[in-house]
Amino acid sequence: MGAPSMSIDVARIKKDFPILGRTVRGGRELVYLDSGATSQKPYQVLDAERSFYETSNASVHRGAHALAEEATIHYEDARELIAAFIGAAPSNIVFTKNATEALNLCAYAFSNATALARQGAPGRAIDPRFVLSPGDSIVISEMEHHANLVPWQELCAKTGASLRWFSVDDDGRLDLSNIDALIDETTKVVSVVHQSNILGTINPVREIMARAHAVGAVGIVDGCQSVPHMPVDIADIGADLFMWSGHKMLGPTGIGCLYGTTEILDAMPPFLTGGSMIEMVHLEASTFAPVPQKFEAGTPMVAQAVGLAAAVRYLTDLGMPNVAEHELALADYTIKALTSIPGVRIIGPGSAVDRGSAISFVVDGLHPHDVGQVLDNEGVAVRVGHHCAWPTCRRFGVPATTRISPYIYNDESDIDKAAAGIVAAQEFFGVAK
Ligand code: ALA
Repeated sequence: MGAPSMSIDVARIKKDFPILGRTVRGGRELVYLDSGATSQKPYQVLDAERSFYETSNASVHRGAHALAEEATIHYEDARELIAAFIGAAPSNIVFTKNATEALNLCAYAFSNATALARQGAPGRAIDPRFVLSPGDSIVISEMEHHANLVPWQELCAKTGASLRWFSVDDDGRLDLSNIDALIDETTKVVSVVHQSNILGTINPVREIMARAHAVGAVGIVDGCQSVPHMPVDIADIGADLFMWSGHKMLGPTGIGCLYGTTEILDAMPPFLTGGSMIEMVHLEASTFAPVPQKFEAGTPMVAQAVGLAAAVRYLTDLGMPNVAEHELALADYTIKALTSIPGVRIIGPGSAVDRGSAISFVVDGLHPHDVGQVLDNEGVAVRVGHHCAWPTCRRFGVPATTRISPYIYNDESDIDKAAAGIVAAQEFFGVAK
């Protein structure tokens, strides 16, 4: 077992997570190292959600009764707290199902605006920044999660725009040497990941957003793997649109957030339409509510917002700088532990600089699924596969990787168990060096 991190008391934190007390696979202690996929939830989050249902459950923004009023207060208070977590105002936060839905919301804003502009829509103000034509370009990177790739491919197919991407170097860093050529006057959208879910790389998004704005493009940053793990100041990043998921940061599933500047959210056409997002409805046509309601059609995820607010409180109490420091120490420890095993190769930055603690690796002679299975037999939960980043795997010439992604409830002893499991897998399959 390695030295404990100074900033985060893992033993105390673990007691807040009931699931971490269970055993798996015939009585083995659970070692959960798959928080990049989803994090576990502390009592505080579980209790907040349960308490909302037990005491205040009602549909928000409607109903003239006490419960509806209380539920609305809980929902909007949650929005305020969650917004402040990234330094935003509440009216700049739209609740979505998850980051994938938020990214689709953005892509659909462009395709809806383009369709309306082509059709001619009397009375509708269409912002030309959202109208795409053949010859326009959308810029992403080679390390995007499919959620920040496929919606843009679809948008290109619908509008005739073309997709461009930053390539990734051998150390898992973005190659920005051609940034001025890649993001040029044809570029309407630049959408890049803040922290890669497969490589762990933290990208210089402020520089990329500045270049996007220099050519008048809309700048988007996928913060799904950064917001749970490091302090995020949205003003510093300078993105027009930014999104993340609640379930990766101790919150419930079924809730994500889209941040947008007031100016951009006002200019974007809605994605989903129906109840709650309207201002006035006639049989012929409708007008829409101000943001953020314009983007929140239907009954929203109120209990999940309350749960996510409890997660934000939990992380804020720990201190996000402490969380980041803890994870950097774990990243460093994991890199050293893995590279000390002959035959193990890290896919992603090989040093704990500008990287998160999600660490992908391959083992010579073993399929990542076999590694994952042996680890699972030891009680160690990791993710295997292409991690919804298939082009990134192709870039590194691997079909898949095994990924260790720790969080606040992990320490060096968990990494030691994973490392021992990898050696056991090598021995079991006869590929130990
Ligand atoms: N995007 C999630 C992951 O990286 C599912 O595991």
